[in-house]
Amino acid sequence: MKFFVDTADTKDIADLAATGLIDGVTTNPSLIAKSGRPFAEVIAEICALVDGPVSAEVVATDYDGMIKEGRKLAKIANNVTVKLPLTLDGLKACKTLTGEGTQVNVTLCFSANQALLAAKAGATFISPFIGRLDDINLDGMELIQEIRQIYDNYLFDTEILAASIRTPNHVKLCALVGADVMTAPPAVIKSLVNHPLTDKGLETFLADAKKAGIKV
Ligand code: E4P
Repeated sequence: MKFFVDTADTKDIADLAATGLIDGVTTNPSLIAKSGRPFAEVIAEICALVDGPVSAEVVATDYDGMIKEGRKLAKIANNVTVKLPLTLDGLKACKTLTGEGTQVNVTLCFSANQALLAAKAGATFISPFIGRLDDINLDGMELIQEIRQIYDNYLFDTEILAASIRTPNHVKLCALVGADVMTAPPAVIKSLVNHPLTDKGLETFLADAKKAGIKV
């Protein structure tokens, strides 16, 4: 499963990229706004920090506007993935932009039928939002499973990019049900390494090594 980091904070991205564990980045207008920096500038900087896909979202809602913004975003760097909302205009724009060779991430997916449409529109990635479904007492992980089955039934190339991930357990379940990619905030990705028995074991090994005067 590929790991994307869901943030527009370039310091966090640089730190995680240095681990070699990050395959791409996702942003959205709320994350860009939080960075307090100009849109194009922050996307260009992120694209230089990672080799993989960097999702940059349009803010237009009509087809012509999305195409115009999508083409502009695609020019920022070779690894820009244009993020489009799951609306009819968004799907139409997806078809056009992928036809031009631009990678497209169709976002704000909350149902299997929406994911089916995105695949038919040639989306590179579909982003089902797990956490936001869980927030309203629905089962985000069930949606990932349904999309996996549909895409496998018809051999769609569209990659399932599990989004709105809030917990380490979400990450594990995504891997178990076969999401292609997961995107999570830096804190969630960093927390995956934690285990109290690892800390305790390391402490004991180091204490024993010190007592015995072991040097490597
Ligand atoms: C994904 O592309 C979105 O930016 C993100 O995962 C949304 O997460 P949230 O529901 O926690 O805001």
